[in-house]
Amino acid sequence: MDSIVVTGGGELNGQIPIAGAKNACLTLMPATLLSDEPLTLTNAPRLSDIKTMTELLQSLGAEVTSLAEDKVLVLSSHNADNPLAHYDIVRKMRASNLVLGPLLARHGKAIVSLPGGCAIGARPMDIHTMALEKMGAKIELKDGYLHAVAPKGLQGARIDFPFASVGATENILMAATLAKGTTEIYNAAREPEIVDLADCLRKMGAQIEGDGTSIITIQGVDRLGGATHPVVTDRIELGTYMLAPAFTGGEVELLGGRLDLVGAFVEKLDAAGIDVTETAGGLMVKRRSDVIKAVDIVTEPFPGFPTDLQAQMMALLCYADGTSVLEEKIFENRFMHAPELIRMGANIEVHGGTATVQGVKSLKGAPVMATDLRASVSLILAGLAAEGETVVSRVYHLDRGYEHVVSKLRGVGAQIERIKS
Ligand code: UD1
Repeated sequence: MDSIVVTGGGELNGQIPIAGAKNACLTLMPATLLSDEPLTLTNAPRLSDIKTMTELLQSLGAEVTSLAEDKVLVLSSHNADNPLAHYDIVRKMRASNLVLGPLLARHGKAIVSLPGGCAIGARPMDIHTMALEKMGAKIELKDGYLHAVAPKGLQGARIDFPFASVGATENILMAATLAKGTTEIYNAAREPEIVDLADCLRKMGAQIEGDGTSIITIQGVDRLGGATHPVVTDRIELGTYMLAPAFTGGEVELLGGRLDLVGAFVEKLDAAGIDVTETAGGLMVKRRSDVIKAVDIVTEPFPGFPTDLQAQMMALLCYADGTSVLEEKIFENRFMHAPELIRMGANIEVHGGTATVQGVKSLKGAPVMATDLRASVSLILAGLAAEGETVVSRVYHLDRGYEHVVSKLRGVGAQIERIKS
């Protein structure tokens, strides 16, 4: 298995281009199942999760063609007649569950493997199924698969989510575009990826209002057409690389970066002593002094501080002056990076969903590994400022969510390389 070696020290200066959002692309791709006409996605990120979604859609009978070095995906579902999403693919990636709503809307039938737990928590699908049942689907769990049918098609309904789930909002939004009548989603998630999905669905002919707020209204239509849509900027990749110069000093411009995607995160950077300014091409980041200030973080649904940036921020706060308290409110088991950072000399105590980080003057490079994507990248960031070499193994996690991580960081002066094995 490949590993990544980071040698700490040295400022970072220059520009990093930010890719299209993994999490947006993973919900835009299944939208192809809603139409017989082609859907073209531009600005797609080059990631293994996108390949997994491609494989899943192909197994359902869809055609997926990659163009322009995989930055453009042309998807067509006119021959997609298989409603079975097999465990062999779904187990690799939880976002596979995003085919459930579109399959049910299109065929009146879907057989989708439950994804099971993952490193960061149990992650059930109860609120997806509750909402689809309200829309008239009958759903049974057999042999680890959700067997869903809607023989008379889906009906519009009022859906009250107990909390704002990103994936459930996306699944219901897609399903409701072809349902009979009006669907209202209360307590909808407000993430930019949901707004991006709604924008794309509108181009395909869907009638949607209120995306980006907690009440989304969808008026079902008989059919959807094709569209061409650019995937929104990846706010998590953006936030991750915004942190890089905070660790090392220097000035880095994030090309394509937008403040509205990272508002709560930028507030915390400001409190930690890191300046973010808008430029013609994106966002420029530099720290105000060598001292990072301790800050407290609570993860929340958008527009709050994203759980997907918690690990990276914790890595920075390991170097802060003072004590920071991080509360993880979205996932029950999302501090796996803490023991690895401790191996590098960090002072962190974890109790349940709360981590207390007492800043130290420096960390020391070490062999480390992580069991999820964001945890892995947090170790690379920590390594940028650590003394000596940090060797991050289990690199396949990074490949799921960060395209060209080595060349992007090398481009601003980091000493980082990938070792093939
Ligand atoms: C999406 C993102 C992920 C991000 C997360 C929260 C994608 C592909 N993934 O994941 O990167 O970390 O949002 O911002 O977009 N839950 C239930 N029952 C359900 C559904 C969810 O209990 O039916 C729980 C989950 O276990 C979790 C919480 O709700 O604790 C939030 O999950 P959700 O917003 O659904 O996240 P995902 O869509 O899986």
